[in-house]
Amino acid sequence: MEIKKICVLGAGIMGAGIAQTAAVAGFNVSIRDMEAHLVENGMASVKSNLARAVSKGKMEKNEADKIMGRIKGTIDLKEAAQDADMLIEAIIEVMEIKKQVYKDLDTICKKETIFASNTSGLSITEIASVTQRPGQVIGMHFFNPVPVMKLVELIKGFSTTEETMGIAKAFVEKIKKSSIEVKEAPGFAVNRILCPMLNEAIFVLSEGIADAKDIDDGMTLGANHPIGPLALADMVGLDTILFVMEGFHKELGEDKYRPAPLLRKMVRAGYLGRKSGKGFYDYTK
Ligand code: 3HC
Repeated sequence: MEIKKICVLGAGIMGAGIAQTAAVAGFNVSIRDMEAHLVENGMASVKSNLARAVSKGKMEKNEADKIMGRIKGTIDLKEAAQDADMLIEAIIEVMEIKKQVYKDLDTICKKETIFASNTSGLSITEIASVTQRPGQVIGMHFFNPVPVMKLVELIKGFSTTEETMGIAKAFVEKIKKSSIEVKEAPGFAVNRILCPMLNEAIFVLSEGIADAKDIDDGMTLGANHPIGPLALADMVGLDTILFVMEGFHKELGEDKYRPAPLLRKMVRAGYLGRKSGKGFYDYTK
């Protein structure tokens, strides 16, 4: 099946990045969120990324305009999804909400449409179970910032067919990224390794072993990471890291996955990182 039209559900950091990446690669994209201001924010972030590329001389202005012209924002689920060949879902990480959306999509979409979830850890098999097309449901896990990061993890659920895997792989190549194939497991492969490291950095901070800047300098200068773990936690979102760690702790049942109490406290205080203006660093100044 040839993929031409993509529907991205969720216009947050990940959804907007996915929409941008697909539009840059020439796909027509609809991006849908529940409220108009959320859709507008997502479109604005794509526009500003493209404007930055133009100002750096990396893209012509008319090319940026053409890319924007390929993205259509809407709050109407039916309008966004009915003619899509592939859906990429990047909505809130709450299984019950996802299931309801997938049930609706199953009736709205064409029968061939592939359903890809950008979940950072929920079960693809469970999501697929509420649809009449479990073979066409796959995990397609992007990394933040999506326009820059080269990897997409492809996760095979219990029923995902080889044909669906093949279509997803070909799509990843078309958007000029690389894929790795991962079995369904909490956190898949990358978050399983990365998030405990970020959580550990928060323990090191809360135990007073080093301050935030020194922890980050330690990992950039001492381990050649592009940014430090606390700066990365702010970029990914502290609520997302807490969600992932809670999932590991619950599903894998080992104390080593216990979320750092400071992480939990900061999320409760609304310190979510860059998206809320404050996290381990202050982004409001
Ligand atoms: N959106 C789009 N483009 C962005 C961007 C953003 N949010 N942030 C940076 N960029 C672009 C810049 O425009 C620049 O592009 P150019 O080379 O064409 O000019 C390029 O990225 C480099 O940016 P900078 O020079 O400003 O800054 P850095 O060199 O520090 O790079 C970074 C920024 C690429 C974000 C780098 O710090 C990095 O690689 N950090 C680690 C990111 C990471 O580990 N991500 C994975 C998180 S885990 C995850 O997402 C999974 C989830 O489920 C939790």
